[in-house]
Amino acid sequence: ALAFLSVSTAQAQSTSDIQAALNAAHAKFKDVKDGANADYIPALAKVDSKIFGIALVTPDGKVYTAGDVKSEVSIQSISKVFTMARVIEDQGTDSILKRIGVDATGMRFNSIVSIEFAQKSLGGPEINPLVNPGAITATSMVQGGSRDAVWKRILDFHSDFAGRPLAVNKEVFDSEAATNQRNQAIGALMYAYGFIKDNPSQATDIYTEQCAISVNAKDLAVMAGTLANAGKNPVSGKQVMKSDNVPGVLAVMATAGLYDDSGKWLYRTGLPAKSGVGGGIIAVSPGKFGIAVISPPLDEAGNSVRAQLAIEAVSNALGGNPY
Ligand code: DON
Repeated sequence: ALAFLSVSTAQAQSTSDIQAALNAAHAKFKDVKDGANADYIPALAKVDSKIFGIALVTPDGKVYTAGDVKSEVSIQSISKVFTMARVIEDQGTDSILKRIGVDATGMRFNSIVSIEFAQKSLGGPEINPLVNPGAITATSMVQGGSRDAVWKRILDFHSDFAGRPLAVNKEVFDSEAATNQRNQAIGALMYAYGFIKDNPSQATDIYTEQCAISVNAKDLAVMAGTLANAGKNPVSGKQVMKSDNVPGVLAVMATAGLYDDSGKWLYRTGLPAKSGVGGGIIAVSPGKFGIAVISPPLDEAGNSVRAQLAIEAVSNALGGNPY
């Protein structure tokens, strides 16, 4: 009886520790004013910069929140993680490794120059599925036949990770589709160089739609929590992807999840993570927790300022660094 008592006391202690860590991070960073909303996609400039929500999910399915976890933003580049995971699930870890690569580019997420360096004649792929050229290629690799069928497989997979049916923010999709000539050029170049095998404009169009999937901080935390829990959604109980495939996904996140600031991020936190220009960041402490923060203002590298600060603080408080 005594042993039982001490175990339950330890759990109660850690439950309140987690909530306290979220509350402290929210209080500490809520008035930070640095950064600015992305505005190269016109609809993102209009999103309320004050949104600031933190959510954390543990492998036992408990959900902790602080701040605004109801407001939704577009998932943007965080979707790249789940489309990459879809391809790995269907075609194996080598598919991504051989067609796209898993190395950091050291360049901005929409760099055209990185594509030039990725040509095989220059020594093999130095690119990855979390920068736009690799992400549009990964989207092109999702099987399904028609555009509708491919799109459904991508959206359903995201929904399984979130544990609820997700939907697209049409205004964001239309806004980006009208202004994404650079991504269309990236898709065309990836086709010209043989990375994309077929229909690059469809791949770019579906990629643009997946970036407009609408999520709140809790959705993102459940998605991260599923990766922290070896591919099993800790809230719905569904095994969304094979546990064997999770480490590869986390490795690419660690290498390239925060773009050219990925090294700095890993140095500070040790956590595989992924940012999006909508203002979300997810991070994964394997076996311990998935965390997500939404706050639209971004730094120069395109990563949410307050999300980086809050995740680092919460993870430090909870001993999340796996190294
Ligand atoms: O392709 C784009 O530019 C956007 N749909 C996504 C970019 C993004 O989220 C970069 N993240 N920090």
